[in-house]
Amino acid sequence: MAAGRTGGNGILVASGPWDPQPWADAVRRLDPQRPVHIWPDLPDPSSVRYVLAWHPPAEAFANLPNLAAIFSLGAGVEHILSRPLPPGIPLARIVSDDLTDRMVEWVVLQVLMHHRHQRRYDRLQRAHRWQELRQPVASEVRVGVMGMGEIGAASATMLARLGFQVAGWSRRAKAIAGIESFHGAAGLDPFLARTDILVVLLPLTPDTRGMLSMPLFRKLAHDGALGGPVLVNAGRGGLQVEADIAAAIGDGTLIGASLDVFEAEPLDPASPLWDLEDVIVTPHCAGWSDPAELARQIVGQIAAFEAGRPLRNLVDRDAHY
Ligand code: NDP
Ligand code: OXD
Repeated sequence: MAAGRTGGNGILVASGPWDPQPWADAVRRLDPQRPVHIWPDLPDPSSVRYVLAWHPPAEAFANLPNLAAIFSLGAGVEHILSRPLPPGIPLARIVSDDLTDRMVEWVVLQVLMHHRHQRRYDRLQRAHRWQELRQPVASEVRVGVMGMGEIGAASATMLARLGFQVAGWSRRAKAIAGIESFHGAAGLDPFLARTDILVVLLPLTPDTRGMLSMPLFRKLAHDGALGGPVLVNAGRGGLQVEADIAAAIGDGTLIGASLDVFEAEPLDPASPLWDLEDVIVTPHCAGWSDPAELARQIVGQIAAFEAGRPLRNLVDRDAHY
């Protein structure tokens, strides 16, 4: 019998606000021999070798004597790193073409919604008014992508193919054809000063928390072809100060925004963001995590790990956060 196949090799799904059943079902279809438990229904903690987590309860990692690895059910990991974790246990995140492609679709949609004045045309349609608005060509518009990792780099590349002038900002310099690279604290102000549409695909870390605030919005380009800067955030809500976004829309510091993520989710029905005409609100759906697709990656990771190969997409818990 494989070591611990019935005692010490199981999976615990702790998926917080997400329905755990599709994840457990997807894993069982791919690896029918392996015990799969759903938090908090855990008859024997020693049977758990792997935790699959999305906003897990803090207690989910306690007293698991055979825990060998933790897998985020998404690309982000701040929802796991904020929990008390046993030391030395590897944490892997999702890097998947499926998720990246979904994110790129959302980013391109939002950039084009603002670039092509779609919200203004919606208002004109409701008023039964036939009126054409002045339209700059993409090459007149400067998009800046904050966070040039898996998703940011793919989004920047797609936007450059549409003809936008695209730059990226990250910790380290990047060499991506057709995309200007800015990096680090010294690169931030020049990056903002040349940006008409700011696309944010950063992780939430102590360094990035709260950075999307009024002082940053004021540093964006205000002389661009769209008549003012636009914010597009699909990174994390903790990056943004929502009161500042509402104030910036109110006083013209920003002319529009698309927000998929919020300081607190679900967004409070009383938030003013719902009703601002040039703010597009989506319910953290930019990159839907498909259990069937992403479970395949995690089950593959576990098989490789058990065959003695290293885990991929590991998070450096100390350096990253
Ligand atoms: P990656 O880790 O691949 O990329 C993160 C990027 O952010 C890297 O380019 C990194 O720089 C940069 N970065 C991190 N910290 C800083 C900093 N302090 N200053 C400057 N740059 C920084 O992540 P992904 O692209 O896979 O995902 C990005 C985020 O998108 C996730 O963490 C998650 O929060 C969000 N997301 C949201 C989804 C949604 O549905 N709304 C779905 C999926 C992800 P460097 O390359 O130099 O290290
Ligand atoms: C993720 C997300 O991090 O969906 O994957 O937000």
